[in-house]
Amino acid sequence: MCGIVGYVGSNNCYPMLIKGLHRLEYRGYDSAGVAIIDKNNRINAYKSKGKVETLEHNCEDKNVEGTIGIAHTRWATHGEPSDVNAHPHLSEDGTIALVHNGTIENYSLLKEALIEQGCSFKSSTDTEVLVQLIQYIRDTNGCTLLAAVQEAMNQVVGAYAIAVIDNQISDTMIVARKSSPLVIGIADDATYIASDASPIVEYTNRVVYLNDDEIGIITRGEPLKVINVDNTPSPIDIQTLKLSVSQLEKGGYDHFMLKEIFEQPMTIGDSIRGRVVDGQVTLSGVQENKEAFRKARRIIIIGCGTSWHAGLIGRHLIQDMARIPVQVEYASEFRYSNPIINSDDIVIAVSQSGETADTLAAIQIAREKGAFVYGVCNVIGSSIARETHSGTYIHVGPEIGVASTKAFTGQVTVLTMLALAIGQLKQTVDNETIGAICEGIKQLPAFIGETLKLNDKIEKLSRIFTYAHNFLYLGRGYNYPSALEGALKLKEISYIHAEGYPAAEMKHGPIALIDRELPTVVIAPKDNLHEKIISNIQQVKARGGSVIAVVNKGDETIAALADHTIEVPSVPECLSPVIVSIPLQLLAYHIAIKKGCDVDMPRNLAKSVTVE
Ligand code: AGP
Ligand code: GLU
Repeated sequence: MCGIVGYVGSNNCYPMLIKGLHRLEYRGYDSAGVAIIDKNNRINAYKSKGKVETLEHNCEDKNVEGTIGIAHTRWATHGEPSDVNAHPHLSEDGTIALVHNGTIENYSLLKEALIEQGCSFKSSTDTEVLVQLIQYIRDTNGCTLLAAVQEAMNQVVGAYAIAVIDNQISDTMIVARKSSPLVIGIADDATYIASDASPIVEYTNRVVYLNDDEIGIITRGEPLKVINVDNTPSPIDIQTLKLSVSQLEKGGYDHFMLKEIFEQPMTIGDSIRGRVVDGQVTLSGVQENKEAFRKARRIIIIGCGTSWHAGLIGRHLIQDMARIPVQVEYASEFRYSNPIINSDDIVIAVSQSGETADTLAAIQIAREKGAFVYGVCNVIGSSIARETHSGTYIHVGPEIGVASTKAFTGQVTVLTMLALAIGQLKQTVDNETIGAICEGIKQLPAFIGETLKLNDKIEKLSRIFTYAHNFLYLGRGYNYPSALEGALKLKEISYIHAEGYPAAEMKHGPIALIDRELPTVVIAPKDNLHEKIISNIQQVKARGGSVIAVVNKGDETIAALADHTIEVPSVPECLSPVIVSIPLQLLAYHIAIKKGCDVDMPRNLAKSVTVE
């Protein structure tokens, strides 16, 4: 969601800024803009609704020279997507330009106060209020840009990552953050800033992640300075990026989503590497916090979207193996539910990006109430990874497609290992069972590879269903969340309405929807609810519905009932969500492609939702 890029150095920065915006496109956006200080100390700003290409086109005959600049992809929260609402925003006198990711909650009060002081506004964004406020403070107090930014940070309530340039100090950029991500890349001849490391990685692997309430002062030719909003210096922790440029490219696939689906044999291999040895699971996060896990009376899993679905599977896993009661909450609801959290609760936050604002806010509440907070994240060094007491990375590499695929299977795999590790510790699961599941985990990459061979079959199948307006996904037990996730995949990239339901609940309502026009995807591997789900299929067939069943190889009973079957390898029941998710991802992908949808950047969606 929204991307910030910036450059301070000695080269013309426009090409880097545009390339950086392209790298950030995957986050989701509706408009783009750039502001650069030229050699006459003028700020030239250009902004366009739509794609970064539109901005580039609009800049073709413009002065884009200059060695200090900021750029932005906006995901509108306040004010419609339009040229004028796009960032960067300029202060009224045009001397300050600012890009912002986040929301300013008290913007209307501040705006009224500034209007009373004679300020006039061009846009309907909350962001313009911030830049006008900074100019107002700088001019009325006669202070530096830095002091004005500090004072503005004291006055605004909300979430922000900002980058500010001022033509009166044309070799300096000020950046700051509260709740929204910002990373600074340090190279010998330049300093880069961005919302995540993807625009920076090709120039340097030395990065500093800004913490909440910190301000970075980047001056050409000088070392980076970081201070706190109260003016105290902050230590600078330079970290080494492990990201590579090739990981950010499509590698011969038509779309990132397809590449990421096909990467799963490798990414699951990476998730389990060194963690499943000799029939036992070793997770350093559990090893280092044995006491917290031993004494836990309850586990609360929080997350949003796909990560919440992984959490639902995590509940089954942990309850089965560690016998600890688990509740799973949408982070966005949890934070406003006056939650009862005790010091012997463990809160597990699941997040691919590690930047989801709702999840971060829920973590803060859990911490304040004394819970031990454990992260299951993908992005190394992300805010959630840093805000949690401990955790386990899923290690699936950068996920660029907005629809989460490899991160979901990575999350489920890590939650499986986590459940086993807690079970081992508490001795709630016998060694034989642990050994069998460990064996299954080790075989997952090969089984996923085998399942991916279904791609052609699923592509053909997708042709039949491209014109469906609605889909129903049914599953039971471990695979009820798989049904939810299958439905989410389809709706987010193909815009076809899809509902996931526990199969047995169908008769309590959704059965009314069944007719010839409504395809039902039934997830029915051979588990202990297999017989029950066969009855559910019969109920759909009896009402003229068409059934696509995901089954284990050789399941002739369901093959005789269903209109189409997709056969996947058999694995221990608790690992089946990983395997069945592969055909569901492929089905959603091919249907969306046939409909001509932009699968990597579906409309209205953002990859990491850094606003509330
Ligand atoms: C997944 O396909 C979605 N785009 C979305 O639901 C996502 O899972 C959700 O926004 C949570 O993101 P996170 O894992 O980065 O916290
Ligand atoms: N709230 C700001 C706006 O609507 C910034 C949104 C974003 O993070 O892109 O312009």
